[in-house]
Amino acid sequence: MELKITCIPGDGIGPEIVREAKKVLEKVAEIYGHKMLFTDILMGGASIDVHGEPLTKEAVAQAKAADAVLMGSIGGDTTTSPWYRLPPNKRPEAGLLAIRKELNLFANLRPAILYDELSGACPLKEEISRAGFDMMIMRELTGGLYFGERKTVVENGVRKAVDTLTYDENEIRRIAVKGFDIAMKRRKKVTSVDKANVLDSSRLWRRVVEEVAENYPEVTLEHMLVDNCAMQLVKNPAQFDVILTENMFGDILSDEASMVTGSIGMLASASLNDSKFGLYEPSHGSAPDIAGRDIANPIATVLSAAMMLRYSFDLDKEADAVETAVKKVLQDGYRTVDIMSEGCTQVGCSKMGDLLAEKISSLV
Ligand code: IPM
Ligand code: MG
Repeated sequence: MELKITCIPGDGIGPEIVREAKKVLEKVAEIYGHKMLFTDILMGGASIDVHGEPLTKEAVAQAKAADAVLMGSIGGDTTTSPWYRLPPNKRPEAGLLAIRKELNLFANLRPAILYDELSGACPLKEEISRAGFDMMIMRELTGGLYFGERKTVVENGVRKAVDTLTYDENEIRRIAVKGFDIAMKRRKKVTSVDKANVLDSSRLWRRVVEEVAENYPEVTLEHMLVDNCAMQLVKNPAQFDVILTENMFGDILSDEASMVTGSIGMLASASLNDSKFGLYEPSHGSAPDIAGRDIANPIATVLSAAMMLRYSFDLDKEADAVETAVKKVLQDGYRTVDIMSEGCTQVGCSKMGDLLAEKISSLV
């Protein structure tokens, strides 16, 4: 296959981790006989520094022209970076929100898996972590509070800020359909998370999810209030298969879920539209404090590249090879500093990329 991949190295550790993911993809292309054409675009702080804005129209056009987008991370230190003295719609994160909207990436898949090799890093009690867990958080990504009308005004001398949470049934239906489709390929359970005891948008969410569920008789659907879900994630994470939720709840719960795996540096994500197109990025941020020191963990980005092979290109065999290489390199005892434990060999970002690429060669 000939595949056009647009990369967004971004800010902080972004360029380092994207470099390693590219290394791994190039190895996959070489071994499995594909042609991958990479181009880079700027986004976030890197784009602000060059163009004065976090995402240009030209960059969006380049992303749209690709078959998929691979991203590192964007943003800097919000207290010290000059990017955060700009108006909110000119800051790095505005670029990320804009590309999600421009590319219609409404379905955000965030797997949270407890790797056997890393179970020691799980912060939960052993009796809870022993059961293991493997869940997929499906977060709606282009609606809700993130994209509703907002304003800050002064009324009668009092400052007032307004954010609006809106969902229409079509926005809910399309993410629910993706959620149930994914559940069909997994353990066939959907936990739809809302705040239906308070919010109208959640009550509509629940109704529409139930309508969609009628087309999936094999899938078990349960509803859970978001506060309870936050609790259940630390009490009994093994109960979850697919968690289906709106934008803001998904933002919060996915950070929590990734933390209970103990290794946020391992977690991938995919943001998909209604075709095969997607943007793939690690779940973690740009970690400006460790940028440029060759100590970042590239595995989340490498696993995001595996999701790209699977979801955008239907290259399951190649995706499996990347995921197996990750497991094997961990079994061989190699660790970046964030997941280091006694008796293992600590390696840097670039060395980890080399080891993964070599492992893929040795698998065939
Ligand atoms: C995420 C991030 C973003 C979000 C920020 C950087 C705008 O936290 O992808 O989870 O809130 O969606
Ligand atoms: Mg977040």
